[in-house]
Amino acid sequence: MLRLRSSTSPEWVELALRNMDEILIDHAHCEKKAASMAINLLFRYPEYLQLMRPLSELAREELRHFEQVLTILDGRGIQFRRQKPSTYAGRLVQNARNNEPERMLDIMLCACLIEARSCERMTILASELRSNEPELARFYRGLLACEARHHQIYVDLLDTIYPKNDVRERLEELSELEARVIAVPDAFPRFHS
Ligand SMILES: [Fe+2]
Ligand SMILES: [Fe+2]
Repeated sequence: MLRLRSSTSPEWVELALRNMDEILIDHAHCEKKAASMAINLLFRYPEYLQLMRPLSELAREELRHFEQVLTILDGRGIQFRRQKPSTYAGRLVQNARNNEPERMLDIMLCACLIEARSCERMTILASELRSNEPELARFYRGLLACEARHHQIYVDLLDTIYPKNDVRERLEELSELEARVIAVPDAFPRFHS
């Protein structure tokens, strides 16, 4: 369903569970970045009217998630702060072609794959945290349904602009690349490390 070509390694799960504070701070940054990605698309492609409302709604939802994670940080006495970001999204987006209309297709498919990977990792965290951190597990269970929907929104929007086959073909290629990108971990614990 998520169109991912690889599963998260047990090493990441172990690292994340040992560093939940850092993961939660990064998670807050990720929600903010997801909102920013949708807003950037609103600025870059105003001629595609069909993108405006769904992406605006998506950005608002991501900002609400950002606020929810801030509340969780507060509740755990963790201060939100600047953090060295994971290199994952940057390395993935580097594969986007430079010329239009290919660029819009690639950027939106990268956004789709990032949402899918977030959803996959939230599913893992929801299940791993169930016994020791039931509240946090519940929070992740609530979010992952949204992230699965976000991943689908990008594909559905692209289907209104490009031939469906072109979207599927490029999605296949970029999922392969995403699997290679996520397989090279950062040296520090992050949501997408
Ligand atoms: Fe989100
Ligand atoms: Fe999302």
